[in-house]
Amino acid sequence: MNSSQPTPDRIMQLINGYWATGILGAAASHSLFTHLEAGADTAERLAARAGISGRGAQTLLDGLVSLGLVELRDGGYRNTPEAASFLVEGKPTCLSSFAKLKLTHMGDLVALPDVVRAGGPVEDATVEVADNPHWEEVVPAIAGQSVPVAKVAAEILGLADAGEISILDVGGGSGIYSAIWLGLNPAARSTQLDWGPINAIARRLVAERGVADRFTCVDGDFHTTEFGDAAYDVAVYSHIAHQEGPEDNVALLTKLRGALRPGGTLVICDFIVDDDRSGPPFPLVFASEMLLKSKQGGTWRRADYHAWLLKAGFEEVSFHATPSPASLVIAR
Ligand SMILES: C[S@@+](CC[C@H](N)C(=O)[O-])C[C@H]1O[C@@H](n2cnc3c(N)ncnc32)[C@H](O)[C@@H]1O
Repeated sequence: MNSSQPTPDRIMQLINGYWATGILGAAASHSLFTHLEAGADTAERLAARAGISGRGAQTLLDGLVSLGLVELRDGGYRNTPEAASFLVEGKPTCLSSFAKLKLTHMGDLVALPDVVRAGGPVEDATVEVADNPHWEEVVPAIAGQSVPVAKVAAEILGLADAGEISILDVGGGSGIYSAIWLGLNPAARSTQLDWGPINAIARRLVAERGVADRFTCVDGDFHTTEFGDAAYDVAVYSHIAHQEGPEDNVALLTKLRGALRPGGTLVICDFIVDDDRSGPPFPLVFASEMLLKSKQGGTWRRADYHAWLLKAGFEEVSFHATPSPASLVIAR
């Protein structure tokens, strides 16, 4: 057979791609990566530790080997370095809660053909409903994703040595940026604007990190709450731009510019696509999540961010890669 002949293999993998979400979500639900890390290296031991059936444990292990998250060595199973870094509970970068959450979202995709026809959500546009429980599930689950990104941003801005700076995090969610940055800089103070129940989650996480005395929360809607006037040195707008349409992004970025002191810096983190929409892969796919869950959101191009920031009064804009599918935009 001619080797350049297309085969159906990859399409079969894509059609069955939901098995990856299912196997990973089920393994995370039963803390399999945590038990593997603690030395349970056979289906029997895992089944006993996790309180699941032996048949179930063996089936999940087979699936995890196929997904490249678990490997067999000398007859025993162990986490791959990737799973050990990002799926073992108790590590700040752990994504297991996110894997569990995504398994519960899987059924939502059945609506995608109708959503595509309609050009937006056919039921409630989840992210635009004020103060809704969706965020209480999502926010703690995505905190691990922001850990490496917040560290990269801190390095780019030299935050550890920046002295008595004040930080504003709009839609700060878990408070992870504040927790990391206040931990790096003992003279910094931070304010987070988010819904009340989310700020309660953030206060807990920031307190666990021992920096709650320099963390303040403002409860409210960021579309209607004032951000203050020339009050902050650094502002954060992380994973918010994708839920907003272009006009709202310009309005929010303009308020952020006004909240920053002259020379202050805005840090945006988001899934950003190339100007010709040819990549990168994750931001291109994430556009479907926003079509499903928001009326106006999407994955925006670098050129969009650049134009919005100039309109909002920023003068210098730079883009930075991170160890995640998200990019950083730094604007002054
Ligand atoms: C995707 S999460 C991002 C959280 C955090 N910035 C991060 O990067 O990990 C979006 C956050 O924005 C908050 N949010 C969404 N719409 C909001 C609104 N209109 N007013 C205030 N907060 C809002 C949500 O509660 C949630 O915490």
